[in-house]
Amino acid sequence: MIEFRHVSKTYAGSDRPVVNDLSFEVLDGEICVLVGPSGCGKTTSMRMVNRLIEITEGEILIDGEPNTSMSGTQLRRKIGYAIQQIGLFPHRTIADNIGTVPNLLGWEKGRIRERVNDLLDLVGLSPDEYRDRYPAELSGGQQQRVGVARALAADPPIMLMDEPFGAVDPITRERLQDEFLHIQEDIKKTIVFVTHDIDEAIKMGDKIAILKQGGVLAQYDTPQTILSRPNSEFVSSFVGGDRLLKRLSLTRVSELDLGPANGGTDGLPRISDGLTVRDALSELMGSGQSKAVVEKDGEKKLLTFQDIEALTSSGAMGGGKRSA
Ligand SMILES: Nc1ncnc2c1ncn2[C@@H]1O[C@H](COP(=O)(O)OP(=O)(O)OP(=O)(O)O)[C@@H](O)[C@H]1O
Ligand SMILES: [Mg+2]
Repeated sequence: MIEFRHVSKTYAGSDRPVVNDLSFEVLDGEICVLVGPSGCGKTTSMRMVNRLIEITEGEILIDGEPNTSMSGTQLRRKIGYAIQQIGLFPHRTIADNIGTVPNLLGWEKGRIRERVNDLLDLVGLSPDEYRDRYPAELSGGQQQRVGVARALAADPPIMLMDEPFGAVDPITRERLQDEFLHIQEDIKKTIVFVTHDIDEAIKMGDKIAILKQGGVLAQYDTPQTILSRPNSEFVSSFVGGDRLLKRLSLTRVSELDLGPANGGTDGLPRISDGLTVRDALSELMGSGQSKAVVEKDGEKKLLTFQDIEALTSSGAMGGGKRSA
């Protein structure tokens, strides 16, 4: 667990804090996304966790222990770090890049080699083909995969990820997000993830911390709660006017409590229960019908506009993103 306790940062030569009295917890195995406009202190907050930046006031506890009591080696072992600019060393091979931290920690060569191969497999790059290449010989998306693999190298329980998928086109980015969520199901790291993109925050986060200018925490909650109950004008305008639709994207048809399809269902559209409610709504509207049939556990259920409406008016919405 990572715990921010009244953390503030004021850079030397300035009298105004850029992070102001930040308190929140990141539970083991969860992704906490820091999101907010440019300059609101996201990177600064994240870099105080592994002490690339020193705290001015307050403290950050890692598994109950202040990070100021940990050595550089301890911090490297515990915390992996991936950044937007990827930051691969251009004159080192992919294998050497990924092996950076294990090397610093003095692992034996064979063990590093094996670990690098496993990680390349994990992020979908064939070791034979890629381990001896240089970063410039990879596409942007491949380089970002290597950046993530490098952060995972020493199998740290904690990962800091600063816009790790920022430097690629939207389609590649979506694929990297999906791949990473899939990997996270197995590795269950405790992750602080920075983005300025609210859609990415909603997709990736178990919790979202929305920061505003001056490094003040505006709201800390699950994506569902942020979307259904924004606590201020700032948060509701930051999440955008389409937050109802965003909520529908967080729930799958399989999570709805649907009534049985009694009587004739001929001519009604069929909708897969793996769809998000947003996509189901789109299909339903496209069909020109007011209801559709959903097969659930071999049983026929009926999905109606009322089921969708009930969902948007109740506070309780599930989070189906993990099964994406
Ligand atoms: N080394 C530094 N010295 C002085 N001020 C700094 C330093 N680094 C950052 N700042 C200032 O601190 C504030 C927060 O910067 P930070 O990099 O944490 O923002 P951010 O939320 O990550 O922004 P972005 O989305 O643009 O990456 C900014 O106003 C920035 O100018
Ligand atoms: Mg930043």
